Amino acid sequence: MADCEDGGFKGKRRSEQQTLAQGGNQKGLPRKRFYRARAHSNPLSDSYFPVPNNPSDCDWKEHFPAFFKDNASEVESGKPANDEAKSEVRSSESGAVVPSFPAEKSVPKVRFADIGCGFGGLLVKLSVLYPDKLMVGMELRDKVSEYVKERILALRLKYSGQYENISCLRTNAMKYLPNYFEKGQLEKMFFLFPDPHFKEKNHRRRIISQALLAEYAYIMAIGGIIYTITDVEELGEWMKSNLDAHPLFEPLSEAELAKDPVVDLLTSATEEGQKVARNSGETYRAIYRRIASAV
Ligand SMILES: C[S@@+](CC[C@H](N)C(=O)[O-])C[C@H]1O[C@@H](n2cnc3c(N)ncnc32)[C@H](O)[C@@H]1O
Repeated sequence: MADCEDGGFKGKRRSEQQTLAQGGNQKGLPRKRFYRARAHSNPLSDSYFPVPNNPSDCDWKEHFPAFFKDNASEVESGKPANDEAKSEVRSSESGAVVPSFPAEKSVPKVRFADIGCGFGGLLVKLSVLYPDKLMVGMELRDKVSEYVKERILALRLKYSGQYENISCLRTNAMKYLPNYFEKGQLEKMFFLFPDPHFKEKNHRRRIISQALLAEYAYIMAIGGIIYTITDVEELGEWMKSNLDAHPLFEPLSEAELAKDPVVDLLTSATEEGQKVARNSGETYRAIYRRIASAV
């Protein structure tokens, strides 16, 4: 079975969860030092982890059991979440037509994806801000994704009824996103402090490129927002120029950014962002909206 069908949570009994919570730090959370991993993995190399054949093979109820308690029989609808025509309801400041996203009705679907989520700090904060949205962190490094799964389990145990809407899975997001998400499914995608791959010959390993943006546009809803941030100026320019060059994305205005409660979290909630802030480092962000194609 694919990782997405397990989420790392299946089979963990309450007592094991309690042991985990007790074995963690004084806050009952797992300790990062037990989940040390190499600083980087090569996203172009083959890794050995299960991947679903397509989104309907993903059993998200293993990730979000509290959300699927009452409608398990409806989960396999297999319908795309959003088609372009249905979602057009208002105009942005730039004049682009964007949707307001309705509350989930019968079949909850993952709407936010934190790509390269690292230790999961953003998910934990977003969980509270958007308690009705399902969100998943996708992380290439095995031990790091294990840490995030354990962190979420411990939080669920400690704060009963909370953190049920976040999960993490190990995957290579450069290769497999369409295996997890349908056309138009995601309302927010995050690429926060991605690996810079400084050398020119390694630029093809970067997680933002024209080819990958086309893939992200496919799985994003019209009006969905893509958030990128880095402390590497050259990578910041790279991400911005790639987004500017892509016909299916447009930048948010300063007024829109000022209103968006997520923008501050890009630095304050992520482990990398906190590190940069501690060192008084600069950050470079590019935040764009998925727009409909002109034709
Ligand atoms: C520098 S860290 C940033 C972590 C987190 N976003 C933050 O801001 O604290 C980049 C993360 O992306 C992960 N990563 C790199 N390439 C990836 C890929 N192709 N798919 C999924 N995760 C990836 C790395 O393992 C690493 O944990």
